[in-house]
Amino acid sequence: MTENYAGLQSVIWTGDKLDLLDQRLLPEEIVYLPLTTSEDVWEAIRHLKVRGAPAIGIAAAYGVVLGSRDAVTAEDWIASVKKHAQYLATSRPTAVNLFWALDRMKAAADRFANEGFSLHQLKEALTKEAIAIQSEDEETNRLIGEHALGLFKDDMGVLTHCNAGGLATAKYGTALAPFYLAKEQGMNIRVFADETRPVLQGARLTAFELQQAGIDVTLICDNMAGMVMSKGWIDAVIVGTDRVAANGDVANKIGTYSVAVLAKAHGIPFYVACPLSTIDLSTPTGAEIPIEERNAEEITEGFGKRTAPQGVKVYNPAFDVTPHEYVTAIITEKGIITAPFEENLRKLFQD
Ligand code: MRU
Repeated sequence: MTENYAGLQSVIWTGDKLDLLDQRLLPEEIVYLPLTTSEDVWEAIRHLKVRGAPAIGIAAAYGVVLGSRDAVTAEDWIASVKKHAQYLATSRPTAVNLFWALDRMKAAADRFANEGFSLHQLKEALTKEAIAIQSEDEETNRLIGEHALGLFKDDMGVLTHCNAGGLATAKYGTALAPFYLAKEQGMNIRVFADETRPVLQGARLTAFELQQAGIDVTLICDNMAGMVMSKGWIDAVIVGTDRVAANGDVANKIGTYSVAVLAKAHGIPFYVACPLSTIDLSTPTGAEIPIEERNAEEITEGFGKRTAPQGVKVYNPAFDVTPHEYVTAIITEKGIITAPFEENLRKLFQD
């Protein structure tokens, strides 16, 4: 698929540093920041220079490599890997891919240490593990795109929320992957992108990357989704997710729940696309997913000027939970899961 996919890569490992696309500056400026320490990576994740669940996990994996690379003995090195993994885990709370990637890096480090590698070999092997996390994500998204495309037909209208595209992953994205594949196959899918207040990932990132790829995209404000559905313009909704609980409840960018309710009211299927690394069977339901709250200025000064009275009370959760009753299907690299989610999600990890 998409051999000629020319999307911007959000995370580039150069061999001795991480070149990270500053997503806060898009679409106006394309700037890659050279990151050389785990502190740089922590700061980039916390301040949304890199964002999107899989991309956060990938960046954090390289953060562990950067943090532990100055260790002078094998004992120092393993302690440093653990310390930096623990530190990077405090950067953001909701996307489980962050913790998944850090756990994978720690487990790999333990394995390499038990194999009696030299210090140089340990560092090399851990770097390769981070590179593998990134390249596997690309392959995973390709498969998600293929499965998802089977649900769509030529000339359909599909609404998406936030950005679950190439910028949020190693390549292709999750929810946006089928659109790239459709384009390759000469299919026309009309994508409607919610602008996604308050940080505008839909307007700044989804509209940008789809437009760059020549995909038919129409930008709407979040509060227009019901209107376009009532006009009959939307045949399906597809979104990404930051964490799927064991019962199929789905955390994603704030506003996703409203879109799911609207979709149900209009009889429109609501699909969630994600890799297995986003499914967290250790979190029983959506109620246990930690929801990040961000600062008030994202709402009161988000457009570079004050848009609310000084001192007003603000509530700014970055994510919401869509109960599984609203989810038509979850599309993974291993196929499409429908209800009963509890049982079917568990099966995914058994085969
Ligand atoms: O706050 P963000 O921009 O990191 O939120 C991103 C989302 O909610 C995405 O939809 C989700 O991470 C899936 S990305 C494939």
